[in-house]
Amino acid sequence: MQTLTKYEPQELQQIDSIAKMILQENKFKTLMSYYRGALMEIETKFKVLNEFLSATQDRNPIETVKSRIKTPKSIIEKLWRKELPFTVESIEKNIRDVAGIRVICGFPEDVYLLAEYLLKQDDITLVRVKDYIKNPKSTGYRSLHLIVQVPIFLANEKRMMNVEIQLRTIAMDFWASLEHKMRYKKEDLKNAEEIAEELKICASEISKLDIMMQNIRNRIEDKKY
Ligand code: GTP
Ligand code: MG
Repeated sequence: MQTLTKYEPQELQQIDSIAKMILQENKFKTLMSYYRGALMEIETKFKVLNEFLSATQDRNPIETVKSRIKTPKSIIEKLWRKELPFTVESIEKNIRDVAGIRVICGFPEDVYLLAEYLLKQDDITLVRVKDYIKNPKSTGYRSLHLIVQVPIFLANEKRMMNVEIQLRTIAMDFWASLEHKMRYKKEDLKNAEEIAEELKICASEISKLDIMMQNIRNRIEDKKY
């Protein structure tokens, strides 16, 4: 999770200028193109699964898919924070969330179903799972995080690229956006602690709601088949 490290203005300037420098490097541009390719591969895999589930089970488990490439500035900031070298090799080796994709589903069961189907694919290697749905963060944050490696095929080589996948329900996503906003305004908020507590309550209510909605869905489906 992006920390709210307080940087001195001088440090911020340095991070900025390293980011500008690395952005000029051809090796960096090439690496970013690999990550964009990896995102396309993963995004397609989810779209294929959605098509399949929609055709065979009359389900559209995916509401939305959003993907992003980390900006050079936040890549450098992360290397800085972790005291890692500012090289293209170090980025590829140490930063596993340069390519990130968020898959928003209707129901918790869909989150696990999609993760299972993706991880079964023989070209996908699982690097790490963090199940913040079963074990929510202390903030109340819920999501299923996977780091996977996916191959991209180039002129004469196949490269395995890391991609961070966050799967969550619409309700969990709604919560995460508001909590994220609060996180970045914390400094100016007088009652930050109180808000954080209320958010925690909301997270737990949302989780109950997700389960209730899922049970209703399952009852409707059972009747149908
Ligand atoms: P990083 O090195 O910071 O990426 O930490 P990590 O590798 O341990 O990542 P983790 O899987 O814990 O979380 C990564 C991402 O999850 C963050 O960049 C956020 O997008 C999201 N996230 C994690 N915790 C929270 C939280 O408490 N609130 C919100 N809104 N998002 C969170
Ligand atoms: Mg991250």
